[in-house]
Amino acid sequence: MTAPIRENLSGLDLRAEIDRLRKERNAVILAHYYQKPEIQDLADFVGDSLELSRKAADTDADVIAFCGVKFMAETAKILSPEKIVVLPDMDAGCSLEDSCPPEQFKRFRAAHPDHIALTYINCSAAVKALSDVIVTSSSAETIISQIPPEQKIIFGPDRHLGGYLNRKFGREMLLWPGVCIVHEAFSETELLKLKTQHPDAPVAAHPECPPHIIDHADYVGSTSGILQFAKSFPGDTLIVATEPHIIHQMELALPEKTFIGAPGADGNCNCNICPYMALNTMEKLYLALRDLQPRIEMDEDLRVAAKKSLDRMLEMASGTVGKGDLGRA
Ligand code: 13P
Ligand code: SF4
Repeated sequence: MTAPIRENLSGLDLRAEIDRLRKERNAVILAHYYQKPEIQDLADFVGDSLELSRKAADTDADVIAFCGVKFMAETAKILSPEKIVVLPDMDAGCSLEDSCPPEQFKRFRAAHPDHIALTYINCSAAVKALSDVIVTSSSAETIISQIPPEQKIIFGPDRHLGGYLNRKFGREMLLWPGVCIVHEAFSETELLKLKTQHPDAPVAAHPECPPHIIDHADYVGSTSGILQFAKSFPGDTLIVATEPHIIHQMELALPEKTFIGAPGADGNCNCNICPYMALNTMEKLYLALRDLQPRIEMDEDLRVAAKKSLDRMLEMASGTVGKGDLGRA
């Protein structure tokens, strides 16, 4: 369980304090599109999983304050071991990571010795160390198209992303049965009702969505791909089937357009807020920069082993964001 904040921080101007500490610590604040708007607004960089990995690998800051979930902060540590990496709430996990314990994944791999392991970045460092190549949703298409069609593949932990890639590329990857609880919660019935109310609005969906949502999408892609689609589609209203905090960036860039979060079963999009991402708050970010805790620490052998599959991703994905995305218009 997340420890409660015991100090009274109510008198502090958190934004100003975070700015002060960022300079004092020579820290960079990286935030995923699913973070609360107030965190996105003060971050040095807001991006998708691939972009954030690249920023973490390239930064010359001494401290990375990672406003995202644990596997993302671990990725930053793997790529930048000499940096202090803090995560405002160490309980910010991911249902996909939880679905894939390393011991079980190891047995899955061992049962298929003629397969390579192509693995979604939403997994633990130990699972990365057991994998051949990591992918993000914005790099998966470019990477899979570089793998010969006769090469057998196991894909984990997201069965929906894997299934989407199988359908799109005519592959038969063996899929680990994990899902993202956030994208799993969209309701087809409610989406169809919303489409009836907005017949001209296209639907943009993340490939972590199940097929019954993807089937109604005009565009499928990563968070940055969806954002690019939002900036380029010709209409005035877009239905967004991914975590709704990304809508903040759309509204900043296109205040004249309307963005509607795809609904969950109760007809409300709030059930699609990622509960893990939501654990990070301004208060916890302030404390993380002040105390340089909670900090990502990692066994060096594990780090080196996990880095191989991440490095392969960065090499194979180079130049992919946007052009090599999973997008289909
Ligand atoms: P991307 O930002 O790579 O699209 O990933 C979405 C996600 O679910 C992160 O956990
Ligand atoms: Fe994990 Fe889904 Fe949250 Fe992304 S949105 S961090 S995949 S639970």
